[in-house]
Amino acid sequence: MNNIRTIVGMQFGDEGKGKIVDFFSNDADVVIRYNGGDNAGHTIVANSKKYKLHLIPSGSVYGKDLIIANGCVLNPKILIDEIKMFDQVRLRISGRANVIMPYHIELDGLQEEERQKKIGTTKRGIGPCFSDKVNRSNAIRMYDLIDEKTLMKKIKENLSSKAKLIKYDDIEEYAENIFREYSGYGKFLEKYVCDTGVYLDEKIKENKEILFEGAQGCFLDVDHGTYPFVTSSNTLSGALCCGCGFFPKDMKITGITKAYVTRVGEGYFPTELFDNDGEHFLKVGVEYGTTTGRPRRCGWFDLPLMRRAVLLNSADSLVLTKLDVLSGLKKIKICTHYKINNKTTDIFPDNLEELKHAEPIYQEFDGFEDVDLSKIKKREELPEKVQVYVNFIEKQLKVPIEIISVGPKREETIIC
Ligand code: IMP
Repeated sequence: MNNIRTIVGMQFGDEGKGKIVDFFSNDADVVIRYNGGDNAGHTIVANSKKYKLHLIPSGSVYGKDLIIANGCVLNPKILIDEIKMFDQVRLRISGRANVIMPYHIELDGLQEEERQKKIGTTKRGIGPCFSDKVNRSNAIRMYDLIDEKTLMKKIKENLSSKAKLIKYDDIEEYAENIFREYSGYGKFLEKYVCDTGVYLDEKIKENKEILFEGAQGCFLDVDHGTYPFVTSSNTLSGALCCGCGFFPKDMKITGITKAYVTRVGEGYFPTELFDNDGEHFLKVGVEYGTTTGRPRRCGWFDLPLMRRAVLLNSADSLVLTKLDVLSGLKKIKICTHYKINNKTTDIFPDNLEELKHAEPIYQEFDGFEDVDLSKIKKREELPEKVQVYVNFIEKQLKVPIEIISVGPKREETIIC
């Protein structure tokens, strides 16, 4: 059943999934988002146009069938703005997806202010919305957004419970205002809301090409990531089972990884750089968050991290992105192991207390000099020094590299 593929981030998000999903979307019939919300962001460059998307799956650019499944949390205003970017979208939204409300965004800001250890959230209301969902707070789902009676009732209920945390001058008036705004969003979105599980099942039975687009990255997963510096949902390939109500018996899992590492927000980052090499990645890689514009922290490629990511996601193949960004560095390093309390380990530790003491052990490689990789079309045409770097990663991770990305454009892609 290789006509089903999922794309997952193997690091801390921002691995370049957007470009790769866009690349595979060409052949896909249906593209599905199953986790996260508008904390995600990807930039797609197509037909000389730049699209910055947060919610709509990347296949939109090709006019494919799109699903936003139940595992996502949706800010309807952002979603509508994105829908309006296209003349036509063939979009289906799960009625079970939870809605991000204004109080979720307010709470995200307040909670972050109060935290002694900041997470550096995107302040999009993601955590509070997921908290309401798992706290069974009678939270608002897309089905409620399009049903005015239920929407008003739920807004009042939710606001009165939030009033313990947020100060409202006139809660009745505030509820009316939210209702007016959000019922308007409901009217706009109504035609897209449906039982996406049944639709997906039909498409799978019809043997259609299905592409699942994961959001964020492996180490932002609430269970397996660098807790508490994580997002509030599961981000691994397995998240798609509950995130859209489909249990894949056979599916290709493609892990996306940058040729170095970046992270936006706070949290553990063993190979982080604070020197000119880090500056190089920031400047040459234009490493600024798509959603928040924050500069990303940058570091060397980390094999222990990636070994854990391969295990957690069951990756069948890898896509190595932004390899071109390494050009211009004199020496390049790859972290092969960590030294923790005088012992070496080759895998990212499960116990995060140990990670605090992890000292990366590096292997050094010759830099690529100033070669322009963007025009290269075949792996074997890559300069010798570049091949050494790529082959080393592949051999260490024991997972084939399927694609190498050497620039932001669709054509700057090497199929291995
Ligand atoms: P939240 O998801 O907004 O609650 O943010 C929690 C953490 O995840 C913060 O460190 C964010 O910077 C990070 N984060 C969330 N979504 C993304 C993403 O799509 N790419 C990179 N980092 C993200």
